[in-house]
Amino acid sequence: MNEIRKWLVPARVNLIGDHTDYSGGLAMPIAINKGITVKARLREGERTHVWSMGQTADFDRLGREHVTGWLAYVAGVAWALNERGIQAPALDIVIESDIPVGAGLSSSAALTCGIALAMTSFAGYPATPTEIALLGAKAENDYVGAPTGLLDQFSVCFAQADHALLLDFSQPEPQVTPVEAKWAEAGLTLAVIDTASRHNHATGGYGTRRQEVESAAASLGLEQLSSVGLDQIVSLTDPVLKSRTQPVFTENARVRGAAKALRDQRWDLFGTMLTASHNSLCEDFQVSCPELDLAVESALARGALGARMTGGGFGGCAIALIEPERVDELRSMLEALFDARDWPKPNVFVTPPTNGAHQLP
Ligand code: GLA
Repeated sequence: MNEIRKWLVPARVNLIGDHTDYSGGLAMPIAINKGITVKARLREGERTHVWSMGQTADFDRLGREHVTGWLAYVAGVAWALNERGIQAPALDIVIESDIPVGAGLSSSAALTCGIALAMTSFAGYPATPTEIALLGAKAENDYVGAPTGLLDQFSVCFAQADHALLLDFSQPEPQVTPVEAKWAEAGLTLAVIDTASRHNHATGGYGTRRQEVESAAASLGLEQLSSVGLDQIVSLTDPVLKSRTQPVFTENARVRGAAKALRDQRWDLFGTMLTASHNSLCEDFQVSCPELDLAVESALARGALGARMTGGGFGGCAIALIEPERVDELRSMLEALFDARDWPKPNVFVTPPTNGAHQLP
């Protein structure tokens, strides 16, 4: 009864390929050096108790009652398991995290997947990483009500140190291909710029984009917008649907190009893809914001080979491929620029590609 088990689930940044997962496209994320630790043990009774960031709460172990707020990401997994015919045991769960919430680093996927690992483990169900990712997504989509795709959950479950993951969402079960990411050997690092502006994908513009993408696919008679051809884009007359379709088409092409550049260690080309992706998501797909644009512009001005917003957008983080010696200058520059605009202080850190979810000793 008293055995404690522990898991670490990392955050992720998406190197390229945003707003493509829910239309059957491509993306290429890495896991980063921030994460969530979930510690759990069995407890008597019918309720699971959770301790997180100084707060405590409890819920029906099978997730049958509806809870809201951060607890929904925990109870939602019990509910998702129950829907799959697996009964979650009653647990004591302690959650610790250094992932900023709402920063576009997949704190919610790290949490749901960490809880799914704990609940399946104590239920005696040997879940595969794909099953863990799908349980996390089900909790987030159908219980919490955030209409996200599968990018975040597959990133945090499958990531490998020193690799990016080429993810292909065209099939019901996404395909995962690790690609070596050796920019450190070329004297480069990946800087993450948390702009401190925040989003909420359960209520914000993310859902609107998703609907627009679905309307564009429907108006072209496509099941998934990522299979769109150039001739079909040209035939679209609705300006909004056209401006959502074009970036999906070009973003998928950029992911293919970036994967090749990564394999060939062509850092200039890789950087060009990142920046082109930002411009397209900003101008056509319109999911960037002034803070992210300034972060990208500043990184490029400080000599980054490429920079872009990462994740769902409307706030959160940007990434930049840059020489490590320039990161301090970039940080000071951004702090001054943000301060001059009365924006909250940004946080700049560097990360290697790290391992995905795993049990700790
Ligand atoms: C959020 C969602 C993902 C994905 C990205 C954008 O992180 O959770 O499913 O759509 O935005 O690429």
